[in-house]
Amino acid sequence: MVKNLEINPSILSADFSRLGDQLRDVEAAGIRMLHVDVMDRHFVPNLTFGPFVLEAIRKAGVSCDFDVHLMVDPVDALIEDFIQVGATRISFHPDATHDLHHSMQLVKSAGCQLGIALNPDQDWDRIKPFISEIDFILLMTVYPGFSGQAFIESVKPKITACRAYLDQVHPRCRIQLDGGVSVTNIRELYDLGADHVVMGSAFFAESDFKAYIQRCQIALDSA
Ligand code: DX5
Ligand code: ZN
Repeated sequence: MVKNLEINPSILSADFSRLGDQLRDVEAAGIRMLHVDVMDRHFVPNLTFGPFVLEAIRKAGVSCDFDVHLMVDPVDALIEDFIQVGATRISFHPDATHDLHHSMQLVKSAGCQLGIALNPDQDWDRIKPFISEIDFILLMTVYPGFSGQAFIESVKPKITACRAYLDQVHPRCRIQLDGGVSVTNIRELYDLGADHVVMGSAFFAESDFKAYIQRCQIALDSA
């Protein structure tokens, strides 16, 4: 936790040849929630990993919570699989299910926090009808599929508008931003209304995670 902004490092950018060691360092630096990017090379043009990776992380002695971002179609079976391995949060893209209500209930009935993910060109108005049922909105600030892409600046007005709407109708609903986030833009994104930020390539490029989190804290605390 940094100030009121939670940093969620995406394990997609971790060094998989020494995943356990690296994530123990991440946890020791103060991170409580890891972001887990699940891709199927169908819904998005990349293939990542399944639930067994989370079991391996647990076996390696890492106790961080898991924030699972599903970029898969169909989504229901993997929602169930990731519940089984202890996900704390699960988000998915509404286009990846034929029965949105059913998929949402799968997440909620397991006691997981529910997030709905929207691509940079998707209007957040579409989630207004069921906004009271969700715990967070994941606003993609890159097109899903790969880490290391540049933050899409044109998403910023959507963040502001979304926050203003949530403050009126569902203040406890959080906004998570995903893609192109680093110490250089974290303060601006916090000011726009972000509650959680995913950091992949920028975070794992660092050798001293604690120092990087401190730099983020300084950026947030600066006038
Ligand atoms: C993109 C993923 C992101 C990505 C973030 O599809 O959802 O979580 O890993 O990586 P960076 O921070 O490098 O943009
Ligand atoms: Zn993600």
